Amino acid sequence: MSMNEQCRSAEGISRRGFLQGVAALGAMPLFGASGGRLPPIRIAHCCDPQLGFGSDGKGKEAYKNDLIRAEKEIEKINELQPDLCFFGGDMVNRWNELSHDWPRLLKQLRVPWIVAAGNHDIPDDKSKTQCDLFTSVFGYVYTAQTMKGWRLIAANGQFERALGSHPDYHAWRDRELDEAKKAGLPVIWLTHQPPFDRKPDEADSYQNYPLKTRHAFLDRCLDSGVRFFLAGHTHRMANRTYWQTPVLNSETTSRNFDKRPHGFRMLDIPAEGPYKWEFVSV
Ligand SMILES: [Fe+2]
Ligand SMILES: [Fe+2]
Repeated sequence: MSMNEQCRSAEGISRRGFLQGVAALGAMPLFGASGGRLPPIRIAHCCDPQLGFGSDGKGKEAYKNDLIRAEKEIEKINELQPDLCFFGGDMVNRWNELSHDWPRLLKQLRVPWIVAAGNHDIPDDKSKTQCDLFTSVFGYVYTAQTMKGWRLIAANGQFERALGSHPDYHAWRDRELDEAKKAGLPVIWLTHQPPFDRKPDEADSYQNYPLKTRHAFLDRCLDSGVRFFLAGHTHRMANRTYWQTPVLNSETTSRNFDKRPHGFRMLDIPAEGPYKWEFVSV
């Protein structure tokens, strides 16, 4: 099958899924993806603090400079007082350094926070040691909570990508989506790896979910009420959509491959009007 044929067939699947999703929406409050009737919420969208990965300095020097920026980011978030601070994973560059500074940094944050594990936090998805360390610092490997009329699902993109390897995770996320749909709660899907990097039909890569199941996953999300995907991992700012649903990657405080300045984004979903997603420099 040629690439074009693959794209066409994938698009066909997603279109069917989208139409099924629209039909299913009849049973729940109809929220528009571009704002208007979504419950208001403000979320700081912070990507890849990745202590030790920054390009200014090497080794301990890079770690120290990334740490300084992570502390500044926390100061700004404390000033701005969003409803939630979301960290999109890769909290450190080397997983065994997770407990060096993050317990202290989390105590400095004066707003609720939620973290999606990155591939640098739990690189070997079969290692219990890595999951245990992540849990000892953040309290879970994946989680969900309801806030201000939204279901916030902090998924595990690493497990999502590893098809068949994490049946417990996949059962959990299916249950979460089913329950959100039943409750009529709009969902923000929080993840490290985005479902796709540039286009929904792109080939499999380090940056996305396997094409084999990518559209089925995305369609299921839309059918279940996902209204935003917030991600990290790519180290490039990106604002694209899947059937009008925003898939957003903010700037990082470690290294930005697109030469964007260090910082984060404030996602502001107001009671009326379109959402905003504005850059805050660090
Ligand atoms: Fe990263
Ligand atoms: Fe990553």
